[in-house]
Amino acid sequence: SAAEKGGHASFMLKEIAEQPKAVADTLLGRIDAEGSLTLDEVRIPAHELRETDKVVIVACGTAFHAGLIAKYAIEHWTRIPCEVELASEFRYRDPILDQRSLVIAISQSGETMDTLMAVRHAREQGSKVLAICNTNGSTIPRESDAVLYTHAGPEVAVASTKAFLTQLVACYLVALYLGQVRGTKWGDEIRAVIRDLAGIGQAVERVLGTMEPVRELARSLAGQDTVLFLGRHVGYPVALEGALKLKELAYMHAEGFAAGELKHGPIALIEEGLPVVVVVPSPRGRSVLHDKLVSNIQEIRARGARTVVIAEEGDETVTPYADHLVRIPATPTLLQPLVATVPLQVFACELATARGNEVDQPRNLAKSVTVE
Ligand code: G6P
Repeated sequence: SAAEKGGHASFMLKEIAEQPKAVADTLLGRIDAEGSLTLDEVRIPAHELRETDKVVIVACGTAFHAGLIAKYAIEHWTRIPCEVELASEFRYRDPILDQRSLVIAISQSGETMDTLMAVRHAREQGSKVLAICNTNGSTIPRESDAVLYTHAGPEVAVASTKAFLTQLVACYLVALYLGQVRGTKWGDEIRAVIRDLAGIGQAVERVLGTMEPVRELARSLAGQDTVLFLGRHVGYPVALEGALKLKELAYMHAEGFAAGELKHGPIALIEEGLPVVVVVPSPRGRSVLHDKLVSNIQEIRARGARTVVIAEEGDETVTPYADHLVRIPATPTLLQPLVATVPLQVFACELATARGNEVDQPRNLAKSVTVE
């Protein structure tokens, strides 16, 4: 009913709007007054986390994209090697696991069969399993050694939005916590990031307040067949997620590419008028990557692409090459997906609506896939 949707046209729009609160709730009670993390709920003893020599993340769908982003954060802050794998591929290839491997299973529902099977396989090999899950008492957390719950609240729309943002927050918390427990040389950076995380809900709120031009753009593209997404570093999984949302909701051909791979294939797809969404890294921090992305935008635009550029506020270098410019607040590089994903969700939702699709219940898809 309309009341259940809180005045929004769909559960998806309601859930997109709830993201600032979902993010804040997932941080609540997990950062103490001194700015350190208190994750007592992660019932894996600190000495075991100090001995962990490998992290393996397993998940499906949107949760898998959260895992891809987590890898950048985990390896950077903890220096522990991290692999990310689709849960459906994981156990069939005889992965190398032992007691010193920490397996992180990410699942909104906690019931996805492939992810559950990956959890069982990991535990049979003696690995510790930490679930990141949004559903209290569901099967995956019950079968794991420990769980860090995301506090997104119930997610009804099939396409995941607020659960994804909170999965990212939970992944950052785990990465920072591993760093804290193991005492890495990134101590100062870790404290700074914890402070930045505390303000990220407001940044998401700001993005939500500026989405009208994105909606207009989406409506204008309703007749397109294909949309491509490009990103690099953590912007690459964001591009994959933007493409997934568009497939799920708008039933359009959409693909996400690592911008560095452009010349190895995707650039052949560029033709006059093709919309290409580009997620630009911050010009601060890893500025080399920023400059490479700006050249990519020039390259595809010279070949006729209609560029939709998602870039940090104040980044003027992109302005001459953007047919459409979407501004996001400045964040530390690793946290950018929390703000960069939001316009892509709004874009897909609006485009789907413009094409006459039912956004909460896309055809052929289920909220939770409980069969293999
Ligand atoms: C389905 C849903 C997706 C979700 C995926 C994983 O495909 O439609 O939105 O990302 O399952 O679900 P999980 O509950 O394990 O996060």
